[in-house]
Amino acid sequence: MPQETSTILYHHKIKNGYHKIGLSCDLSYAEASAGQFVTLKARGHLDPLLRRPFSIHRIIKDKNKVSGLEILYRVVGGFTERLSEMAPNETIDLLGPLGHGFTLTAGLKKPVLVAGGIGVAPIVFLAESLGEQGIDLSGVPVFLGGKTVSDILCEKDFSERGMSVNITTEDGSCGQKGMITEPLAVYLATHKPDIIYSCGPQGLLHAVADIAAAHQIRCEVSIETIMACGLGVCMGCAVKTKDYSDGYRHICKDGPVFDASVVVF
Ligand SMILES: Cc1cc2nc3c(=O)[nH]c(=O)nc-3n(C[C@H](O)[C@H](O)[C@H](O)COP(=O)(O)OP(=O)(O)OC[C@H]3O[C@@H](n4cnc5c(N)ncnc54)[C@H](O)[C@@H]3O)c2cc1C
Ligand code: FES
Repeated sequence: MPQETSTILYHHKIKNGYHKIGLSCDLSYAEASAGQFVTLKARGHLDPLLRRPFSIHRIIKDKNKVSGLEILYRVVGGFTERLSEMAPNETIDLLGPLGHGFTLTAGLKKPVLVAGGIGVAPIVFLAESLGEQGIDLSGVPVFLGGKTVSDILCEKDFSERGMSVNITTEDGSCGQKGMITEPLAVYLATHKPDIIYSCGPQGLLHAVADIAAAHQIRCEVSIETIMACGLGVCMGCAVKTKDYSDGYRHICKDGPVFDASVVVF
C-alpha cells in the first residue's frame, strides 16, 4: 500500500459541484479492485489534518500499463474545496489502494448495480471490471438515483456498455420521480439477479439491503462514512455487524464493501 507524491494529470469540472481528477500512481494499482479507495492529503497543509477517502473511479491505462487513477468527487467542505482549485502538474499526497472491494464471483451472470448520487464513483469501476471478467453487460440494469438532475452522473459510462440505465430523481427533474428503490422493486418482481451491488447514502443501502433480503438475493454494499485514520487504528469508522464477536467492524479496513446481510443499519 504505497504512500506517494502524486501529480495531477488532469482536472475537469463535470457538473456543478462535481469534478473528475486524474492522478499519477504506483504500478501496483493494476491490482486494485472496484470498491477500494485511496486517501488524499494536500501537501504542506495541516488543515484538514486528516486524510480524506475517495473511491477509485477508474484506473487509467496506457497500452495496458497503469498510468494513473481517476477520482470522481463532490465538493462538500474544506478539503474538497481546496482540491477543486488544484491544477494539473500540482502534487498531492496519495495513499492506497485501501480496503476491500466488491466480490466478482466466478460464474456470475446477472448482476444489478444501484448507485445513489456520488455513490456512482466505484460503480463505474465495477461495471468496467465485470466487463473485463467477460460478463455480458448488455441489458444489465443499473439504477441511478439522486435528489435532482445534477446528482445524476456517469449515465454514458453505463449506456456505452449496453447496460440498461434507470434514472430516478426525488424532484422528477430527470427520469422517474421518486426513490431509486421503486423501479428496483418493480424490476425484482419479475427478475432474479445473482447479486445486487450498491453504493450511496446509508438510507439507500439499508433500503436496498432490505429489498434484496426479501427476494433472497445476495447483496453487497459499499458504505461511506466519515473516517479519521483510514487504517484500522482509531475505530472512527465503526459499523455494527452481526458476525463479529464484539459486534463491530472497521469500514476502512474490513470494508468499505460488506455483504449486506451482516450489516446492522
Ligand atoms: C470509503 C469512502 C469512499 C468515498 N468515496 C468518495 C468519492 O468517490 N467521491 C466523493 O466525492 N466522496 C467520497 N467519499 C466521501 C469523502 O471522503 C468526503 O466527502 C470528504 O472526506 C469530505 O471532505 P471535506 O473536507 O471536503 O468535507 P468536510 O468539511 O469534512 O465535511 C463537509 C460535510 O460533509 C459531511 N461529510 C464528510 N464526509 C462524509 C461522508 N463520507 N458521508 C457523508 N457526509 C460526509 C460532513 O459531515 C460535513 O457536513 C468517500 C468516503 C468514504 C468513507
Ligand atoms: S478510520 Fe480509523 S479505524 Fe477506520
